[in-house]
Amino acid sequence: MATLAFKFEEIIPRELKPELYELDGISRATIEAHFKLYEGYVNKRNEILQKLDGVDTTSANQVYSEIRALKVDLTFAIGGIKNHEIYFEHLGGGGGDPTGPIASLIERDFGSVEAWRADLKATGMGGRGWAWTAYDWDEQRLFNYIGDAQNTFPVWNATPLVALDVYEHAYFLDYQTDRASYIDAFFANLDWDVIASWVSKYQIQT
Ligand SMILES: [Fe+2]
Repeated sequence: MATLAFKFEEIIPRELKPELYELDGISRATIEAHFKLYEGYVNKRNEILQKLDGVDTTSANQVYSEIRALKVDLTFAIGGIKNHEIYFEHLGGGGGDPTGPIASLIERDFGSVEAWRADLKATGMGGRGWAWTAYDWDEQRLFNYIGDAQNTFPVWNATPLVALDVYEHAYFLDYQTDRASYIDAFFANLDWDVIASWVSKYQIQT
């Protein structure tokens, strides 16, 4: 049987760091809700890749609809994994304003940290799932991109540095419909050291 020739290994969810259970204004129950979804995306990713491994590409046309469904779901699952891994990793800090190269980068591309924060907040208020600050390697600058779901609308060749989850599960337990207050709490818990370590790891020039 001709398969899609995937070679894959199952992955397992990363463990949450303990600080995530002690955030200021974002409850343990909310973090647990994110984690449950994240675990679901990891399982889904493994399941879909296993199914794709078994798809016979030499059979009749109807297989294409199956491939379509699996591949669309794969982007949702892997998007959900990546988005949440960023989210979990860069929370647990004391918020405030960044210093060093990440601060220079934000000031260069947005004018000020305040302007960046206001733009990301507005993007999060307008989005249906995510707002990201990402470094675009072709434009060589930061953008605050909008997301409606785990798989919309990232662009090629950009590296996310901040991932703001604005799905309802991110704030409803703690803030009901008051998304703006949740976004303020998100900023107050950002760990700038983690974000700065990514700027350095990816060798983003400031
Ligand atoms: Fe989430």
